[in-house]
Amino acid sequence: MFDPAAFGPAIQQRRRSLPAIRDQRHPASHGPRLFADSADIHDIEPLYRAGIINGVTTNPTLMKRAGANSWAQAKAMLTDILTLLAPNPVSLELTELGYDAMLAQARELAALGSNAVIKVPVGGYRAVDAKADPFTGLKVIRALWELGIHTNATLVFNTTQAFWAANAGASCVSPFLGRVADYLAKHDDAGGPPGNSLYQATEPQRYHNTEYVACGGPRHDAGSRLVQEIVTVFAHYDIRTEVLAASIRNPAQVSEMLLAGADIVTVPAAILAGVADHPLTDLGMQAFCADAAVFTG
Ligand code: E4P
Repeated sequence: MFDPAAFGPAIQQRRRSLPAIRDQRHPASHGPRLFADSADIHDIEPLYRAGIINGVTTNPTLMKRAGANSWAQAKAMLTDILTLLAPNPVSLELTELGYDAMLAQARELAALGSNAVIKVPVGGYRAVDAKADPFTGLKVIRALWELGIHTNATLVFNTTQAFWAANAGASCVSPFLGRVADYLAKHDDAGGPPGNSLYQATEPQRYHNTEYVACGGPRHDAGSRLVQEIVTVFAHYDIRTEVLAASIRNPAQVSEMLLAGADIVTVPAAILAGVADHPLTDLGMQAFCADAAVFTG
């Protein structure tokens, strides 16, 4: 089961060995980074200007959802995000499939901005083309590492995939914890809502014994364990590839990722807004404001 106590000295040491992301005087200079998981600049801009995020991840689904209907529109959209975020990283996903085409597209995307990070699916190539080389993604990551182009190995669902990507030279790996949680919630317990942190509060008899149930309780925490496992392996072997926790479904999963030792957590804008609006924070604010009324006027 996911065990937050496993955040031990090796993980602390790993965090300290990674470059500081802010001025050393800043109290969180070695803290993990928060990214927006979005391709919609209207979502991204206020979060960035408020200092809440310092990076962005995109993918073809998010690009389509943000209104891109052609490669030209997608490139224009990505260029705007890169310009806004510079010098902070923005992950841009390859849409080509063959090795040569992927390398050419990676160069094209990398030319859009020096903060571009090329997102490369770690595998799954035979799922879309039975004749494809299963190692295409790893080979592309290797070639881009040799060219000095940063990569984000995406669609990671086990620790071996993460390790292979790191071995190929990936700058970061993206385990999709929310999709793991969704899958398990759907298949293990069809009665429960997928990946919902409120299970514990609303159904304590089913999800007893732990407060760390963001992925749906002790039987559904494989997504959090996956991230913790990758972080632990990377810490033990001093692998500097960053672990970017992706596919977040609720604010409690963000907390779990911080406990798991993730280097980066990428979060949809709506969930970030939810972090500010905890029900008890709301009640507290209402009480403070009501009491403060006597001091005004
Ligand atoms: C990460 O980089 C991906 O874009 C994203 O987190 C996928 O999340 P989803 O499972 O919500 O599609």
